[in-house]
Amino acid sequence: ETIDYKTYLVDGELKKWSGNTTQVFSTISSTEDYKPTLLGSIPDMGEPEAMDALNAATKAYGRGQGVWPTMHVKDRIGCMEAFVKKMETKREVIVKLLMWEIGKSLPDSQKEFDRTVEYIYDTIEDYKQLDRNAAKFQKHDGVYAHVKRGPLGVVLCLGPYNYPLNETFALLIPAIIMGNTAIFKPAKHGVLLITPLLEAFQSCFPKGVINILFGRGRAVAAPIMQTGKVDVLALIGNSKSANALQNQHPKSNRLRLVLGLEAKNPAIILPDADLDLTIDECIAGTLSFNGQRCTALKVVYVHEDIAEEFNKRFSKRVDELKFGNPWDDGAKLTPLPEPEKPAYIQGLIDDALLKGAKILNKKGGEHADNYIWPAVLYPVTKDMNVYQEEQFGPVIPIVPFKDIEEPLDDMAESNYGQQVSLFGKDVYALAPLIDSLVNLVCRVNLNSSCQRGPDVYPFTGRKDSAQATLSVHDALRSFSIRTFVAFKDN
Ligand code: G3H
Repeated sequence: ETIDYKTYLVDGELKKWSGNTTQVFSTISSTEDYKPTLLGSIPDMGEPEAMDALNAATKAYGRGQGVWPTMHVKDRIGCMEAFVKKMETKREVIVKLLMWEIGKSLPDSQKEFDRTVEYIYDTIEDYKQLDRNAAKFQKHDGVYAHVKRGPLGVVLCLGPYNYPLNETFALLIPAIIMGNTAIFKPAKHGVLLITPLLEAFQSCFPKGVINILFGRGRAVAAPIMQTGKVDVLALIGNSKSANALQNQHPKSNRLRLVLGLEAKNPAIILPDADLDLTIDECIAGTLSFNGQRCTALKVVYVHEDIAEEFNKRFSKRVDELKFGNPWDDGAKLTPLPEPEKPAYIQGLIDDALLKGAKILNKKGGEHADNYIWPAVLYPVTKDMNVYQEEQFGPVIPIVPFKDIEEPLDDMAESNYGQQVSLFGKDVYALAPLIDSLVNLVCRVNLNSSCQRGPDVYPFTGRKDSAQATLSVHDALRSFSIRTFVAFKDN
């Protein structure tokens, strides 16, 4: 049964769409021949709907005097609580769509849903705390001040396909609760799973607070940016899209950016590392959701003294992983949702082989359409594309090193700076390294793979990896500004 969705949310109204639609396919095949499965269709919107949404969001913000930014904190929280309660009733359908639309395994799809619900509840609690603190007056040098956090205005929100619910909401929820208004366009893959929530958004929030559009970014997001009326660009995805949108804004220097972008997180394996633990963590770090995570380990540096042993055991483990459809019990590898991805991954493998690397695992690179087996490549050198690019998929470059300065130099030269995983036992050797690494990235994971959670910890990056910080606590700050009223003691 397909979902042919013909509704969108603008100015508090669920409007009927009668224009063109775009078909949504899953790369998961329902038959033996690996043909994509038609899941449904969504409206293919353009500039008129984009302008309606922008006008509605602008009106609801009302130069900061609209209903939403001036609403009492308790009432804003009430709207959010009502929304999350309704959302909880949609778990089954959203989990099913996560599996079909983006190929995420059943346990990971359930986790994405539950983590999002928890994120909303935690945001509400943190917001209450923020408001309690704001109620306290300060006094310094005879000046009293009532310091608060105020909203920024209209937010354009765009999320990624790999966490179409969780990461989108990690932007949208703090943005709204802080009193901003928003226009949100779901990602290309993972779009249908937003549709069961439109009614909840419509019934729980005042009109214009959240407006949801469907269509291509070029057709919908670009015209919105060109008006210069967006105050915040909130995007998790790639820097190419973020830069293009930012540049559309006629006063882009005034735009607040809340961006989560690419990363090339390395694992550094020292000679004394516990190999059982290191291999477990590197399997999870490189291949959870087939490596389609910005936090995935995307390059593995292994000390040359242990490279042979590590490579042999690691590649054997990769070949032992279970491939299957998302609902198959124990399936760790699943089809990739982007139809063009296997050709890209194959291109990286071919380039590396041509420049002298080998595929270490027997099944490496085998594929039938979007069912692609991970390839472990060794030795990878700087001239290879797989070393330079964020592969965001199942290919694992391994780089041998002799001196720890080699990976440190590479990280310093890299365009990215999100996280690193460091594996070793000798605390005296680890301590100075940790000091160096925290100044190259934002999170150093000791004897464990890189990850975003728990969501209370700051999630950010240096250089091209991020702008602003996202965590339950930090996101409320990223979507607001400190304001205060001051008076003198006279
Ligand atoms: O794509 C990047 C995500 O933020 C990764 O999150 O570490 O929880 O999988 P995760």
